[in-house]
Amino acid sequence: MQVCVVGTGYVGLVTGICLAYLGHSVTCVDIDERKIAMLKDGKSPIYEPGLDGLLAICQQRELLNFSTDLPATVKQSEIIFIAVGTPPLPSGRANLSYVEAVATSIGRSLDPTRRRVVVNKSTVPVGSGNWVEALVKEGLRSNEECAGLKPDDLFAVASNPEFLREGSAIADTFYPDRIVLGASDSFAIEQLRELYKPLVEQTFTPPPSAARPAGFTAVPVVTTDLASAEMIKYAANAFLATKISFANEVANICERVGADIQEVVRGVGLDNRIGPRFLNAGLGWGGSCFGKDVSALVDIAREYSYEPQILRATVDVNREQRLIAVQKLQETLKIIKGKTIGLLGLAFKPNTDDLRDAPALTIAEKLLEMGARVKAYDPIANEDCRQQYPALKIEYADNVLSLATDCDAVVIVTEWEEFQHLDLKRVREAMNGKIIIDGRNVLDRQEAREADFKYRGIGR
Ligand SMILES: NC(=O)c1ccc[n+]([C@@H]2O[C@H](COP(=O)([O-])OP(=O)(O)OC[C@H]3O[C@@H](n4cnc5c(N)ncnc54)[C@H](O)[C@@H]3O)[C@@H](O)[C@H]2O)c1
Repeated sequence: MQVCVVGTGYVGLVTGICLAYLGHSVTCVDIDERKIAMLKDGKSPIYEPGLDGLLAICQQRELLNFSTDLPATVKQSEIIFIAVGTPPLPSGRANLSYVEAVATSIGRSLDPTRRRVVVNKSTVPVGSGNWVEALVKEGLRSNEECAGLKPDDLFAVASNPEFLREGSAIADTFYPDRIVLGASDSFAIEQLRELYKPLVEQTFTPPPSAARPAGFTAVPVVTTDLASAEMIKYAANAFLATKISFANEVANICERVGADIQEVVRGVGLDNRIGPRFLNAGLGWGGSCFGKDVSALVDIAREYSYEPQILRATVDVNREQRLIAVQKLQETLKIIKGKTIGLLGLAFKPNTDDLRDAPALTIAEKLLEMGARVKAYDPIANEDCRQQYPALKIEYADNVLSLATDCDAVVIVTEWEEFQHLDLKRVREAMNGKIIIDGRNVLDRQEAREADFKYRGIGR
């Protein structure tokens, strides 16, 4: 099928490349000319494991194009995905201005040659499906080519929320737990079923970077109305964020009563009704989705005069959890002012360069405010952090040992694989002090103590 994906960020780019890999003819559109130029050159503007290789395969097969020309791409497409950002406004409400701009442009660009499906993949508040429809219609009003034609004959709107995780986005796209399709128009659902058929039936040859999991034979498709599809996305993210905040709250109680959260989670997670995932205690969640989506759901609920107490607590616990690293530094170092603290990891989680709402930023900001000298090392995100947050006076190190040099204390903020296998003796020798705050509980406590560290984990 002929597909247009608008927005080449973490979601749009991965979606576009994976659909092209499945055999569709895809054009990815962005207003950012630099990104499009890079992509035409075969280079991914984001770090996502395996994406460069997949991009090369699709470009070789001539199934993937990149463009800044939305009107021309809309005209040649059967299905148009909106995958632009919906970042939070200071109020917590989702900023829908990017979706608005794209939806009206699509309306201005449609022509009468075929009926198209406009699919919203951006995470938008409940009710936005109808709003997108209204915006496309608004765009149509200044579209002379379609003058006098019925809008319903020209397009239908669907919601297809995205659940991929940065860092494993390709495998998540090819082997998802489910595909959610929301629409009131049967044509829209049929077109999307056709588009996803190779994925649903798993008839494609897996790419080199994402082997098919053993026994994975089909993907469940949930077809529903627009509002429920939009709510599924918010509810899923809110539940996962709540699960982590819950584990962190239990960890904080564990510390006080002398229990070990690692042991507790092992025992709790074996309960099939609960499961072990998203129960890791640490310095809290971050990233572009959890905070934004939970805040947006709180905002939606309040708009309807409902006070969402669990969601509010999820956010509050997480806010305080990040600063537990600082609290532990205070408990062990006593004076923070003038001390050198090394942060291991900046990205909000391993295997991504994404710094949006990363706990490391909150921790660095607080330590700098308290007069500490802050050093940081991230295997991927150093340069992005330097460029995106010039006001944060962090000293960037090129590797673990140069990070450790002169440090009074080191904090593991992101659980990159590399940090799970540190040569603790050499790290300790390079340091000035002996404190290690294991903010993700990835080290062996005993080993750390044998390497002469004063070890502090979370909830243990
Ligand atoms: N990042 C994730 O892990 C993730 C997962 C699931 C859902 N989502 C949702 O998907 C959406 C996209 O997220 P993202 O992380 O990919 O965003 P992003 O910020 O990485 O990318 C958005 C892209 O849209 C482009 N854009 C903005 N306005 C445009 C316009 N008028 N025309 C063309 N392109 C335009 C930007 O230049 C940018 O490249 C959001 O609603 C997000 O909540 C994200």
